[in-house]
Amino acid sequence: MKNLVILSGAGMSAESGIKTFRDTGGLWEDYSIEEVATPEGYAKNPELVIRFYNERRKQLKDVEPNVGHKILGELEQHFNVTVITQNVDNLHERGGSKNVIHLHGELIKVCSSRDPQNPKLVRELSEDEYDVKMGDLSEDGSQLRPFIVWFGEPVPKIEEALDIVRSADIFVIIGTSMNVYPAAGLLNYVPARAEIYLIDPHPVTVNTNRTIHVIAKGASEGMEELKKILGV
Ligand code: APR
Repeated sequence: MKNLVILSGAGMSAESGIKTFRDTGGLWEDYSIEEVATPEGYAKNPELVIRFYNERRKQLKDVEPNVGHKILGELEQHFNVTVITQNVDNLHERGGSKNVIHLHGELIKVCSSRDPQNPKLVRELSEDEYDVKMGDLSEDGSQLRPFIVWFGEPVPKIEEALDIVRSADIFVIIGTSMNVYPAAGLLNYVPARAEIYLIDPHPVTVNTNRTIHVIAKGASEGMEELKKILGV
């Protein structure tokens, strides 16, 4: 089976009702990145940051994977699929994808404030624990924090993602503005033999001299079209 590698971003989940970040009406219009998505913001006002992610986490109970997520899940019958996602929601998994690398963390998990990237201190919450409170502690005695990779923090999963990208026969970019590194830089590691597709309803500026087959549609329609192109 060929290796199909996906790089997804917020647009993948837009049709499920989760806001993107940089579109008109996106999350970064309502919130400041510095306040809710940096370690400095967290140090300054942990309560605000914990509440912000509690809201995002709570929303997971009200949303469902869309057709795009589901087609990706189905493609596992025909390809070795790995999804590298910048999304922190769990819709890829719920759409049937088994190999998902979350570059920017996962909403359903928490970690230690003192040692956020220590895998031993990362824990998945049960649904009744979704509302994290100030005073809820990690095993090391520090405040439980959202397991999210914030701006300015290392992206530990990037090495694993790089290895996967290097093995791609087909590489598909879906629903990301390609603004955030190192995720956007993964494109540079796609082998020359691989075809590259980009699914996004809006124009995306991509920094490459490679040929990119653009499917200018939303995630669900775009995935339907990709399925046809791939002949499955
Ligand atoms: N289907 C597919 N793509 C869509 C759809 C849709 N229905 N609607 C919007 N999009 C596209 C937009 O055109 C845009 O190119 O999704 C992209 C969303 O871009 P961003 O909001 O910048 O999100 P993303 O690229 O995932 O952001 C990367 O930045 O804020 C941080 O850590 C956060 O993981 C996030 C990272």
